[in-house]
Amino acid sequence: MKNQLCIVLDFGGQYNQLIARRVRECGVYCEIKRFDTPIEEIKALNPMGIIFTGGPNSVYDENSPHISAEIFEIGVPILGLCYGCQIVAYTLGGKVEPCIKSEFGKIEITQQNESPLFKDIPEKNIVWMSHNDYVSKLPDGFHVTAISADCPCAGFENPDRKLYALQFHPEVTHSEYGKNILRNFLYEVCEFSGDWVMDDFIETTVKQLREKIGNKKVILGLSGGVDSSVAAGLLSRAVGKQLTCVFVDQGLMRKDEGDFVEETFTKLFDMNFVRINCQKQFLEKLKGVTDPERKRKTIGTEFYNVFWNKIREQGTDGFFAQGTIYPDRIESGKGNSAGHGSTAVIKTHHNMVEMPEDIKFDGVIEPLGDLFKDEVRQVGEKLGIPYELVWRQPFPGPGLGVRIIGEITEEKIKVLQEADAVFRDEIAKSGIENQLKQFFAVLPDVKTVGVMGDHRTYDHLIAIRAITTDDFMTADWARIPYDVLARVSNRICNEVEHVNRVVYDITSKPPGTVEWE
Ligand code: XMP
Repeated sequence: MKNQLCIVLDFGGQYNQLIARRVRECGVYCEIKRFDTPIEEIKALNPMGIIFTGGPNSVYDENSPHISAEIFEIGVPILGLCYGCQIVAYTLGGKVEPCIKSEFGKIEITQQNESPLFKDIPEKNIVWMSHNDYVSKLPDGFHVTAISADCPCAGFENPDRKLYALQFHPEVTHSEYGKNILRNFLYEVCEFSGDWVMDDFIETTVKQLREKIGNKKVILGLSGGVDSSVAAGLLSRAVGKQLTCVFVDQGLMRKDEGDFVEETFTKLFDMNFVRINCQKQFLEKLKGVTDPERKRKTIGTEFYNVFWNKIREQGTDGFFAQGTIYPDRIESGKGNSAGHGSTAVIKTHHNMVEMPEDIKFDGVIEPLGDLFKDEVRQVGEKLGIPYELVWRQPFPGPGLGVRIIGEITEEKIKVLQEADAVFRDEIAKSGIENQLKQFFAVLPDVKTVGVMGDHRTYDHLIAIRAITTDDFMTADWARIPYDVLARVSNRICNEVEHVNRVVYDITSKPPGTVEWE
């Protein structure tokens, strides 16, 4: 059974995925489509509601994304947000002009007339605005539903045609009642039943996987990251021992992490688990490699050599599975006048693996291909995957390799793993863990002079890094309390052999990156 569907039509706005996530949080399945998706294709998907996103353009820009007025004739309720609101007005014969005074940030709106979107919401409330243009004349048949001090048309609608528009962004948390407004659109206007629930997702997916896989085999590359772990959990529930997970341990994971992954998947789940321990082989390849890019390349190339060789050995009859998630698959509708042509398709495929030509499976399975990261985590929790894996912080593919500056040796890996483990332990005990997005230790390959007892020492320096960030594009160094830093420093120097000094990295991004290499 298919879920009821809401479509988010992407006009290039920065919040397109956020809108889709909010809709799903309301229990409604939602997919993002480009603004220029053919109307016939949209109709064939049978959506019960459509939301137009914002976008960086002005409707009058030569290359700005537009849509045919046909979309308003298909009888599906539409909600236009920000640029999407202006598109509704412009396409139906209204007028859009530059604002006399642009609005950015938190703005108070006052409701006008009664709108189903504002059901049970105070007459005056705070919303998030970000616009230079405004709707100065409504299309025929529409009336205003909200105003602000500087915007005479913060919301408008034609309830008979089920067409709604808001100049502000209900999807961002700064809009006080934003989620209620979206919920009202979905439930009061579109009449969704709310059939997108993670329990149902597991049940339906397991059933579909069983049907598709039959009695064939499935191979999955397990990295120990959230996505591949949850994919493994789902596949194991669906087909048990028909699943083989291949886990390449290049010896550059955090302390005991390889053992933890193995234990989790062999004890908790029914599957074949193949672990390849190849630290020696990697160290051999990495001998004398100090350039960061060459290091990354060497680790990446070797990883896939080992992985694909194992796959060849295991046999390629059956399916290949991977932990691709929805954001990896979204084609963004970034049609704008700022460099991209309106036909530019931006694809990101972070999780998608390139398969060598000689390896041919019966098909590829991506059980998480429709989920956002937070939904993947929910599924992981429901499958009983341990907290440490489900809430694992980002960890670079090359692992500790990019946290050891200079040549990588077995001794340095050991020192870094130990120091990192102490840091993680102290953060866990301090109660500030959930305020940090990522934290780890780095071994900068610097030795400094110290004193221990009566002896002079000359040993490694460890740097610790902790950041706060929304999207990892920019980041700030975390203001960890001094007493926590003091305990970390004391313990690392006392407990980790060959370390006599600890420094805290107080660089934001930019100019620094999160990782040191
Ligand atoms: P940077 O260092 O670019 O890191 O500021 C931003 C985020 O990306 C992670 N990162 C990686 N993740 N493979 C990955 O899967 C990589 O090669 C890689 N390099 C950096 C980094 O840990 C941070 O979360």
